[in-house]
Amino acid sequence: MAAAEISPEGAEFIVVANRLPVDVERAPDGTLTWKEAPGGLVTALKPILSARNGAWVGWPGSPDVGGEPIEGEDMLLVPVKLSAQEVEEHYEGFSNGSLWPLYHDVIVKPEYHREWWNTYVEVNRRFAEETAKVAAKGATVWVQDYQLQLVPKMLRMLRPDVKIGFFLHIPFPPVELFMQMPWRREIIEGILGADLVGFHLPGGAQNFLYLANRLAGYPTSKNTIGVRSKFGVVTVGFRSVRVGAFPISIDSAELAATSKLPETRKRSRGLRKELGNPEKIMLGVDRLDYTKGIDVRLRAIGELYREGRLDPERHVFVQLATPSRERVESYKAMRNDIERQVGRINGDFGRVGHPVVHYIHKPVPRNELVAFFGAADVMLVTPLRDGMNLVAKEYLACRTDSSGALVLSEFTGAAAELRQAYQCNPHDLEGVKNAIDEAVHQDPEDGKRRIRTMRRQVLQYDVDRWARSFLQTLSGQVDEAPP
Ligand code: ADP
Ligand code: F6P
Repeated sequence: MAAAEISPEGAEFIVVANRLPVDVERAPDGTLTWKEAPGGLVTALKPILSARNGAWVGWPGSPDVGGEPIEGEDMLLVPVKLSAQEVEEHYEGFSNGSLWPLYHDVIVKPEYHREWWNTYVEVNRRFAEETAKVAAKGATVWVQDYQLQLVPKMLRMLRPDVKIGFFLHIPFPPVELFMQMPWRREIIEGILGADLVGFHLPGGAQNFLYLANRLAGYPTSKNTIGVRSKFGVVTVGFRSVRVGAFPISIDSAELAATSKLPETRKRSRGLRKELGNPEKIMLGVDRLDYTKGIDVRLRAIGELYREGRLDPERHVFVQLATPSRERVESYKAMRNDIERQVGRINGDFGRVGHPVVHYIHKPVPRNELVAFFGAADVMLVTPLRDGMNLVAKEYLACRTDSSGALVLSEFTGAAAELRQAYQCNPHDLEGVKNAIDEAVHQDPEDGKRRIRTMRRQVLQYDVDRWARSFLQTLSGQVDEAPP
């Protein structure tokens, strides 16, 4: 990829996210190699980015890396340089030590530090400035997630000509919890710089609408917000800010196609064999995050083995856990706890050459992950709170023969769409155990009916549809998007 001159007109469509969709590698001589790393969001936006002279503004993922915009395959990449201290105070501090736990039901106690907040403001300003520099007149700018909630307002002040969307990828918390935030009004005002504010669920959108009135004093509509329809409206001076629910999804067709490939099927069979050809494989796939309820499912599985409702000779559990935010204290403590639990279950129920829990603490390549989904009879998704949870949808997309079972926490965004899952309350251990037991021992025909219905939903409402419904609403092409 080559360093790029920004065209004098600037970019007409810009995504602003905490991370760039690239992997940066530093060679021993200090030179950097940039590799585009498409996730679901990039895949959905690529056609729009390439057709509309698009740019992606973001942090390259390492401190002190930045500089000139880079011409990617389909987009201009605009790296925002952050110092080590800024990473510590903006990313690890305010974003992941204050906002993340506050927005996820205070599962761990959020910390509020004025230095973290000051750096959050500074870093948001830098993102807004970089964006203002590359945006064409009248451009559309789509700001992503909790790390950048002040960017909409800051960008509007710098560039009142651009159209601004904001989407929150994590839950928006109940009003009573949000009120803890010392800088609550600034955050609400920051987001309200956008023309359209999107959440996964109507409940989050409704909470935000209420706070826009209570904390910032703006008049708000009184209607009930629907999914991809019936938007709320906040009147900010002469502007109307629309507020809506747009549940995100995945590139379902692409995953389904990968899972059907002969080499993927072969690898799924290979994985089963490596695991000792057990009768049932249970699988968990998560970032190692305390919101994901990995400890909950381990506790449940341990007790099910102890009670004889799972059989160590016939039922194994595989947990793939990607390392995440490893310098944040609460993440270190959680890792120790989970690894202790894995050790205890294997100590109690495994034998030499035959552990009952297989725990992999590293990211798995995409094709290998699809093979794992293909091999898993029961998928365990048990977060204590999750904005959406894409893993649940990915599993379903990969179950092309409609076999399998999904155990799903009620406290994920996905639970609103995936009603036929074995749903459970992750705070109710007996309930989680019963859900796992039912899924492992389900009637295969009933299982197929459930998976078929949920797959239809996931294939129909994919990430492309998510992006289109948000962007069409932002551009004013739809007043009430179809449900
Ligand atoms: P979050 O955004 O909080 O991490 P999601 O479930 O919404 O949670 O998305 C996680 C994404 O990361 C999914 O696309 C999933 O496939 C991927 N992922 C999670 N764990 C792993 C892993 N161990 N190896 C590879 N990819 C993973
Ligand atoms: O789901 C929220 C989110 O911030 C995603 O945007 C991101 O892919 C994921 O969590 C991982 O977060 P991080 O960028 O901190 O590794």
